[in-house]
Amino acid sequence: MDFFPVFLKLHDQPCLVVGGGEVAARKAEALLRAGARVTVVAPETDDALAALIEQGRVTYHAGVFAPEQVEGQRVVVAATDDEAVNAEVSRICRERNILVNAVDAPELCTYITPAIVDRSPLLIAISSGGDAPVLARLWRARLESMIPAAYGRLAALAGRMRSRVKAALPSFERRLRFWEQVFDGPVTTHMLAGRNDRAEQALEEALTQAADEAGQPLTGEVYLVGAGPGDPDLLTFRALRLMQRADVVLYDRLISPGVLELVRKDAERIYVGKASRNHTLRQEGINALLVKLAKEGKRVVRLKGGDPFIFGRGGEEIASLADERIPFEVVPGITAASGCATYAGIPLTHRDYAQSCQFVTGHPAKSGEIDLDWESLARRGQTVVFYMGLAGLPVLCRKLLENGLPDDWPAALIQQGTTAAQKVWTGTLTTLPEIAEREEVRAPTLVIVGEVVHLHDKLEWFRGDKNVDNVFVAK
Ligand SMILES: C[S@@+](CC[C@H](N)C(=O)[O-])C[C@H]1O[C@@H](n2cnc3c(N)ncnc32)[C@H](O)[C@@H]1O
Repeated sequence: MDFFPVFLKLHDQPCLVVGGGEVAARKAEALLRAGARVTVVAPETDDALAALIEQGRVTYHAGVFAPEQVEGQRVVVAATDDEAVNAEVSRICRERNILVNAVDAPELCTYITPAIVDRSPLLIAISSGGDAPVLARLWRARLESMIPAAYGRLAALAGRMRSRVKAALPSFERRLRFWEQVFDGPVTTHMLAGRNDRAEQALEEALTQAADEAGQPLTGEVYLVGAGPGDPDLLTFRALRLMQRADVVLYDRLISPGVLELVRKDAERIYVGKASRNHTLRQEGINALLVKLAKEGKRVVRLKGGDPFIFGRGGEEIASLADERIPFEVVPGITAASGCATYAGIPLTHRDYAQSCQFVTGHPAKSGEIDLDWESLARRGQTVVFYMGLAGLPVLCRKLLENGLPDDWPAALIQQGTTAAQKVWTGTLTTLPEIAEREEVRAPTLVIVGEVVHLHDKLEWFRGDKNVDNVFVAK
């Protein structure tokens, strides 16, 4: 982060704009909207500034900029069309620790102004740190169309009720829950529909109920959320909403940093990555931790890679919650087979090559063997997807060959699928183990076996980024 975002209170504060053109006028207008006392210095002014001067809204010093004019100013804007003057204004302000913005010169700025969506008192500021102002403006336009004007009224209503809510609900946790319910429930629905009175009434009722319940312990909840195979864009809306609501998030190795970034900023993050030896104990530990946190009244998100109910032990985690009568929800996610196959251009079924598809775990037992129905897996006309198949790859290829598939039967490896670091190798049941060794393929990797693999050459569309080596960074 190159700039630290803050909102400055400039009401009745002296601010200086250097420059007399259109840009200077826009800057002066923006400062006036924040209630600042604005002085403009310029040898001459164009119409827009002249109008502000005439209306008495800004003080005008006709003439060239002089260093002493920055004394006592909270904020200075260098908005002339002369780069040397702007640089001089910036230098003088920086020497005196006065906040300065030089138009179109981020390197001369100690602050920059974001693009804003103004639903006062709700203000949304968007910045690209000066690198791509057009991108910031594009997002502002999108947000403008997404956020109804009623949100301003809603924020104002919340502001009027704030001190009463604080008095009725002294606990910070309870207030947080209360406001989340307000902004996610009937109060907001009424306000958005223009029923302001009903919104106020609903807020009063919600406050009375919350105050009545304030003596009872907070109820915790657990959300078992499928985070998909890695690309954050593959999260569901529901997953994102719950991630934004969480007090605590438990995640493991299959959660990509991009997904984790979307968790509420102040939520506690607990890494519970499992070492493959010591599995059982670790799983029990995770189950117990979920129960403990929920009993403390927390809203806990348990983030699982892919889909929690596909080779994710999600069933075990919620069984212990059900035993303890802790409320929970499960959110499905895009499973690795679906995500990785799609991003590799390998359709899992195809009218000509595969009329069915099996998802199996290729995790070898301690003996090194993999206990599966090999006869059924070695049938033609289907696709077989092996999760956790990398360690036992030589065994599973051998078993499929022994059970009747030909030497040249197509097979693929997809490493870190759907992420910028995705890599795909195609070969046959004979060559795949050798490819995995030579290319030092590492987890997480999915193995796809079947004639649909041929389609990769033609249908490949996602190529990742050659500069990205690892997304699932080992903890
Ligand atoms: C314990 S399973 C979890 C599966 C997960 N619940 C799902 O629905 O995708 C882990 C295995 O899924 C596969 N996997 C998960 N994410 C992957 C990814 N992004 N790329 C390749 N394989 C992945 C790998 O085979 C890995 O060993």
